[in-house]
Amino acid sequence: MANQDFLNEINKRRTFAIISHPDAGKTTITEKVLLYGNLLQKAGTVKGRGSGQHAKSDWMEMEKERGISVTTSVMQFPYRDALVNLLDTPGHEDFSEDTYRTLTAVDSCLMVIDAAKGVEDRTRKLMEVTRLRDTPIVTFMNKLDRDIRDPMELLDEVENELNIMCAPITWPIGCGKEFKGVYHLTRDEVILYQTGQGHTIQGVEVIKGIDNPLVEEKIGDGLAEILREELELVQGASNEFDQELFDSGDLTPVFFGTALGNFGVDHMLDGLTAWAPTPQPRKTNERIVESGEEKFSGFVFKIQANMDPKHRDRIAFMRICSGKYTKGMKMRHVRIGKDVAISDAVTFLAGDRSHADEAYPGDIIGLHNHGTIQIGDTFSQGEAFKFTGIPNFAPEMFRRIRLKDPLKQKQLLKGLVQLSEEGAVQVFRPLDSNDLIVGAVGVLQFDVVVARLKSEYKVDAIYESVSVATARWVTGDDAKKLDEFQRKVSTNLALDGGDNLTYIAPTMVNLNLAMERYPDIMFHKTREH
Ligand code: G4P
Repeated sequence: MANQDFLNEINKRRTFAIISHPDAGKTTITEKVLLYGNLLQKAGTVKGRGSGQHAKSDWMEMEKERGISVTTSVMQFPYRDALVNLLDTPGHEDFSEDTYRTLTAVDSCLMVIDAAKGVEDRTRKLMEVTRLRDTPIVTFMNKLDRDIRDPMELLDEVENELNIMCAPITWPIGCGKEFKGVYHLTRDEVILYQTGQGHTIQGVEVIKGIDNPLVEEKIGDGLAEILREELELVQGASNEFDQELFDSGDLTPVFFGTALGNFGVDHMLDGLTAWAPTPQPRKTNERIVESGEEKFSGFVFKIQANMDPKHRDRIAFMRICSGKYTKGMKMRHVRIGKDVAISDAVTFLAGDRSHADEAYPGDIIGLHNHGTIQIGDTFSQGEAFKFTGIPNFAPEMFRRIRLKDPLKQKQLLKGLVQLSEEGAVQVFRPLDSNDLIVGAVGVLQFDVVVARLKSEYKVDAIYESVSVATARWVTGDDAKKLDEFQRKVSTNLALDGGDNLTYIAPTMVNLNLAMERYPDIMFHKTREH
C-alpha cells in the first residue's frame, strides 16, 4: 500500500499544456496563469519582451529575432489546493515534433482560441494528436475585448470541426468596447470586467444570481436582456459539463475571457484544477503503470541543449509516471540496462533552473545528459518495461547537408547524430553514398540545425537541394525477404541517426510502387523511440 502522503502529493498534481494557433494568445495566457501561480510579480515578462532575458545562445537569439519560442519549458506552481505543471509548447507556425511529444507527457490540455477567428489550422492538427490519447481538453475563448464572432457559432464550429462537445461554463456579456464580463453558469454569478487590470490581480465585482436587479444596473437593460435570451438558448441547446465525457476527451468545458485584460483566466484555472485528471496511468510494452505505484518510473520526451550558456550540457526532460524521485536515488536506464545515480536533477520554475530534491508523478524533472539519454528512454527501478507512444514522425522536407570545410566531416556527423537524438532534426545516411541528408518536419528546423552546428560543433554547413520526397522506416518479419528487399532497392535505402533502416523515396509514386512490389515489407510513417 502506498502511503497517504505520497498519494496526496499525486492527487494535487495537474500536468497540462496549451494548444493553440500562433497569435491566439498562448504566451499571454501563460503570463496570466503564472501571475496567479505567484511566479511573476507583473505580467509581460515571459517572452522577455524588452526584458533582455532571452539572449541565451545563438539559436535562442534566432528565436528572439523571429519572435518565436522554439524551446519547451516547464513551469510548476501552486494554485489553490493544486500543484500545476504547465508544459510550454513551441509556438511557431511549423509542425513541430517537440510539440507533439510534449503532448505525450501531459494529462490534459488547454485549448486557446482567438474568438475573433475561431478554429484555426494549427489547433486542428494539435487536437488530432490529443485524440490519440483521448486527452481531456479545457477551452478558453480569448480576446473578448475585441469584436468577436457570435459565441454560439463559435461553439458550433468547435463541435463540428473538432468533433468534441462543448459545455459552456461561462457566457460572455457583450464584446469589444461593450465587453462587460461573463455570467458563470454553474456559480450563477455575473462577474464584471474592468479594463486596465491586465498586469496584476485585482478584486472583481461579482453579482450573485442572474435575477438580481443589480445586473440591469451594472450592464444596462439592453445587454441584460440579450444575456437572458442567450442563456435560455444556451441552457436549452448546449451540453452541461459531464466529468466522464470530459475525462474521455468527448466534451470540453468552455470559458470566455481576455488574457490581455486578465479576465476569465482564473475561472478557467478553477475549472482546470477542479476537473482535469491527476497523473494518469501510462502504457508500457509490458503492462500499465499506475501513478500510485511506489517504484519510480518515467520517460524522456524531450532533450534540449544550452538552456544556460554556463552549462554547456544537455537536459533530458523526464515525465515521472510512478514513484517518488529523491535526490541521489538510483534508477535503471532501461535501454542500456544500467543503474545510474541521479544527484542533480533540475526543475523548471518559470525559466529558472533550480535543484529539485524530490518530485512526484506528473512532475517533470531535467536530467543532465552527456549523450547517453535519448528521447523515448524509460527509467525504472529494476523492471525492464518501456513506455510506449512517444513518436518520431517521418520528415516531410529534405536537404543534403554539406560542409564548407571538408576536413570537419567527423564533427558534422557527430553533431547531426546528437541533434537527431534530441529530436531537433533527423539525419539519413544513404547506404550507397557518403551523402548526409537532413530531414525535417518543419522548415524552421533546418535553420536551427545550421545555427547549432556552428555554435556547438564549430562546423559551417550549408544545404543543397536533394530529390527526396518522403521517407519511411522499413521493417520485415521475414529476414530473407528483407534481405532481398535490401539488395534490390539499396539505392533508396539509408540509415537514420539511430541506425534504423529507412526507405528514401524520390517521389510519392516511387514509394507507392515499392509498397506494392514488396508487400512483405512494412513501411512506417512514425517510429517509436
Ligand atoms: P501566441 O503566444 O499564441 O502566439 O500569442 P500571444 O500571447 O503572443 O498573443 C498574440 C497577440 O495577441 C499579442 O499581440 C497579444 O498581446 C495579443 N493578445 C493576447 N491576448 C489578447 C486579448 O485577450 N485581447 C487582445 N486584444 N489581444 C490579445 P501583439 O501585438 O502581437 O504582441 P505585443 O505587441 O502585445 O507583444
